[in-house]
Amino acid sequence: MVIGCRHMGLIWCPITGCPEQAVKETERVSTRSDGVSDAVISAVRHVARTTGPGALMVDDLCPKDLSRLAWSGNPEHLRSVAQALERVALGDVEYLVIRAPYGEPVAKGGIDYTQNDTAGTLWQLATHARLQSLGLGACLVAEAEQRIRRRGLPWAMLSVEDDNPRARALYERLGYVAWRRQTEAWHYEDDGGALRLYETEVTVLRKRL
Ligand SMILES: CC(C)(COP(=O)(O)OP(=O)(O)OC[C@H]1O[C@@H](n2cnc3c(N)ncnc32)[C@H](O)[C@@H]1OP(=O)(O)O)[C@@H](O)C(=O)NCCC(=O)NCCS
Repeated sequence: MVIGCRHMGLIWCPITGCPEQAVKETERVSTRSDGVSDAVISAVRHVARTTGPGALMVDDLCPKDLSRLAWSGNPEHLRSVAQALERVALGDVEYLVIRAPYGEPVAKGGIDYTQNDTAGTLWQLATHARLQSLGLGACLVAEAEQRIRRRGLPWAMLSVEDDNPRARALYERLGYVAWRRQTEAWHYEDDGGALRLYETEVTVLRKRL
């Protein structure tokens, strides 16, 4: 991966070319355990704060991205993303990603078209923890709504747990309205690697497109 151009041990920002945006060589090579380097985080923050989060590319997630999504969840979550990707070719699912300037996936979320006849259902939305509150989630939701409209469907839907008020506030700010309550369940891997079923009550919110 190339980040900007090197000079005297510094790497100039790929976006502005400005020295004040330079990223130290040590940062470029330091990739955290979640697979996203400090340089990638800096580059995304810079674009989001200067040009705006809409300048980042929203793209379709592809299989080669899976190995770069460790930041988004545990191995069981990543397996479920891989399974969702297999449903893309059938037309049942679209899976979106926001990419850092050099392509790394930093926010993602799927649209399931099989949950409801008149709606696309957004699920598995996540922004890298160090890149939240920059507007990436809102961009992802906006693109998902465009995709759902293109399919001629009148509703976008999503569900949120009671203990996630921040996500719920974001969705309500974007025009989603609480519609009904339901129970949802999914598998997760515990610390010992055992597969467990997690069951929870959620609020389903929807938005007329
Ligand atoms: C929920 C989630 C996907 C939202 O993604 P995000 O990229 O942080 O979303 P946004 O930045 O668009 O909006 C969230 C916040 O940024 C603010 N915001 C939006 N655009 C902004 C901008 N251009 N500049 C600054 N702040 C902005 C919003 O007001 C909101 O405020 P808050 O930080 O007080 O909550 C993310 O928090 C996440 O991954 N959470 C963990 C997983 C999860 O809970 N997923 C949702 C399951 S339903």
